[in-house]
Amino acid sequence: MPAEEGVIDGLTRTSYDAVVVGAGAIGLASAWRIARGGASVAVLERDVAGAGASGVAAGMLAPVTEADFGERALLRLNLAGAARWPAFARELEAATGATLGHRARGALVVAADRDDAGELRRLHALQRELGLDAGWLAPSECRRLEPALSPRVAGGILAPHEAQVDPRALVAALVAACRAAGVEVAERCEVAGVEVAGGAARGVRTAAAERVAAGCVVLAAGAWTSRLDGVPPGALPRVRPVKGQLIELRAPGGEPLASRLVRTPRCYVVDRGDGRVVVGATMEERGFDDAVTAGGVHRLLEAAWEVLPEVEELELGRARAGLRPGSPDNAPLVGEAGAERLVVASGHHRNGILLAPLTADAVAALAAGEPAPAEVAPFAPERFASRAPQEALA
Ligand code: GLY
Repeated sequence: MPAEEGVIDGLTRTSYDAVVVGAGAIGLASAWRIARGGASVAVLERDVAGAGASGVAAGMLAPVTEADFGERALLRLNLAGAARWPAFARELEAATGATLGHRARGALVVAADRDDAGELRRLHALQRELGLDAGWLAPSECRRLEPALSPRVAGGILAPHEAQVDPRALVAALVAACRAAGVEVAERCEVAGVEVAGGAARGVRTAAAERVAAGCVVLAAGAWTSRLDGVPPGALPRVRPVKGQLIELRAPGGEPLASRLVRTPRCYVVDRGDGRVVVGATMEERGFDDAVTAGGVHRLLEAAWEVLPEVEELELGRARAGLRPGSPDNAPLVGEAGAERLVVASGHHRNGILLAPLTADAVAALAAGEPAPAEVAPFAPERFASRAPQEALA
């Protein structure tokens, strides 16, 4: 049957209750949650689902070991995000029959030498001051928990409740759950901009000049969010790409290297428990350059090897690079962006997978005209409204 005129490949109509721009973890989880309320939803993705940061992410659900100086509000958000994960994972697995690799085995942040130990002692003091569940371990205790650690490890921090999920399994499950809930997902469909009239979102326009009308538009385009036009001037600060390279390794016999997340000040190692090991990640301000470099791979391997020497026995898989979406203060942008029912869900930087369930609930509330959960409210884009013009889109 010929497609109705003006209908985009992958869609069945030209008008929806909600259109989500971007099929990463944030966009898909948001679409799934909006559809749960009975709304018609389309997701438009410039590439394929999970092609952006979500498909490259390591999947750490680690608010305690991501906590940094001067980021109390973000820590509260990240802890609230982590709290939603167990129920979200159960619900998504039940809806799809998929296994997400959600494991809560804790994280161990180890010092490779005395300099690292000094840095980690300061981090641990901050964690204690913030009331976080994190204990200092002597070198022997670190090695008792993770026998593959180098004898040179000089102590570390145990955060017993940190968890992990397999982001590619997550994206696949979200696509399946979306489709089962009636959400239509159009891939290789680049959105050029949003259409706003009378102070409210009306739909989107694609790069091929097709229009999709919508009562609500959700911008979840990750590092590409600022490339969308039509957002009211000054309503949204610039979202920049922050490059992260990571390496996939494989243990030949499937033997685990570590049962917990292992981190150092220079890298993290995520053992998926099935022979797959991920070492990440660089933090690079290089615009939209997503090339994997020899230097990036070298630094990550060296950093992992200095604390887990058995890394050198693992098979080298793919090295990849992704672009995290970073806002001017590196905290998420979740809220209306200068027009009714124009909802942004971007800028999640290092915590997109961690914050996907909470952000999705916030987006679904905002799409329904309700307030976002209290923890999310401080992260509305309007916090930049009174800042210098260079921090806002012209
Ligand atoms: N969440 C870790 C990273 O962004 O590399």
